[in-house]
Amino acid sequence: MVEEFEKAFATFCETSHSVAVSSGTDALRFALMASGVKPGDVVVTVPHTFIATTEAISQAAALPEFVDIDERTYNMDPAKLAEYLEEQCTVDDAGRLLSRRSGRPVTAVVPVHLYGQMADMDAILELADRYRLVVIEDACQAHGAEYFSKKNNRWMKAGSMGRAAAFSFYPGKNLGACGEAGAATTNDAAIAKTMKMLRDHGQATKYYHDLEGYNGRLDAIQAGLLHVKLAHLPKWNTQRRERAAEYKCLLESAETAVVAPYEPSWSRAVYHLYVVRSADREGLMEHLKKAGIGTGIHYPIPLHLQKAYKAMGYSVGDFPVTEKAAAEIVSLPMFPQLIEEQQSRVVHEILNFTSAAAQKDVETEPVSLTAESRRTRVYR
Ligand SMILES: Cc1ncc(COP(=O)(O)O)c(C=O)c1O
Repeated sequence: MVEEFEKAFATFCETSHSVAVSSGTDALRFALMASGVKPGDVVVTVPHTFIATTEAISQAAALPEFVDIDERTYNMDPAKLAEYLEEQCTVDDAGRLLSRRSGRPVTAVVPVHLYGQMADMDAILELADRYRLVVIEDACQAHGAEYFSKKNNRWMKAGSMGRAAAFSFYPGKNLGACGEAGAATTNDAAIAKTMKMLRDHGQATKYYHDLEGYNGRLDAIQAGLLHVKLAHLPKWNTQRRERAAEYKCLLESAETAVVAPYEPSWSRAVYHLYVVRSADREGLMEHLKKAGIGTGIHYPIPLHLQKAYKAMGYSVGDFPVTEKAAAEIVSLPMFPQLIEEQQSRVVHEILNFTSAAAQKDVETEPVSLTAESRRTRVYR
């Protein structure tokens, strides 16, 4: 069952291999280790992500260092990565790229495809190529997301562009198991082989341990479930995209004070989350809560300011784009079965909040699309 699911998931991701494991965190750790990241290496990532990204880096005995995000996509800003590589690194006599901050060799980059939208991979891969860095995609939130690669002149799937990639099948993900689960993908047979050994106590043949590994296998029952659900994933992703387009129309026609997500022309996002921005995020959340509408914050405290990473020595102001986003973002209800009426009510309440905040005290009808805007609405 595990092997059948692996084949199907690799086909879905347009990769040669997929290795099913017990969580997204394990997938990322094994992908880093199998791709040659060594203890003490620096792995560059973003501070605006779930902590599992940096946990996996630390668990591979490497050291996370951060670069800031793009303020519109919330993903790694390639210009900030370039700045880091040019200004915060140096090359030693042996030709190794060293971080000035830690003095350690910089060997890998982990772009995170946050909220279901891919990072600007062409630009990141180009820099990685120039500095001989391995790119491992954290695709834990991006099953089925696509990126138009100008370099390859085609749309490419999340998980198919880096040396390896990690996916999570945590129950709330676009493809979720009934418990913990994950998978790593790669086009490199040797990396796939090492990842398979790492997940199974370092053995390829029973009781012949070529390396020290982990207990990171996926249960067959979860693989069976995931295989059945995988057949529905394209439809569910399309539904999420349709709901996102509906929110965008409603938010724009209602002229609310929130900022809708930005999807560049090179991106086909799968909206794991629908994240808007508001200058008074706490007030908006409180208003929506009173109206019976659930919201979330993904994520309220940037990683560089977490207690767990105090020893890293970062401080407030180090990553201003991340810090501003973390103070303003709010995730609205998003799931494939969401219906237009529910979305109208969400936006109606956002509008009520905006009006109240502007002390206009206007009573509005639930917003709905005009016939014209419905006709012209485009779902990509
Ligand atoms: C961006 C990101 N990276 C890594 C992970 C880790 O996945 P898991 O919870 O399956 O270990 C998650 C999932 O929560 C995630 O959202």
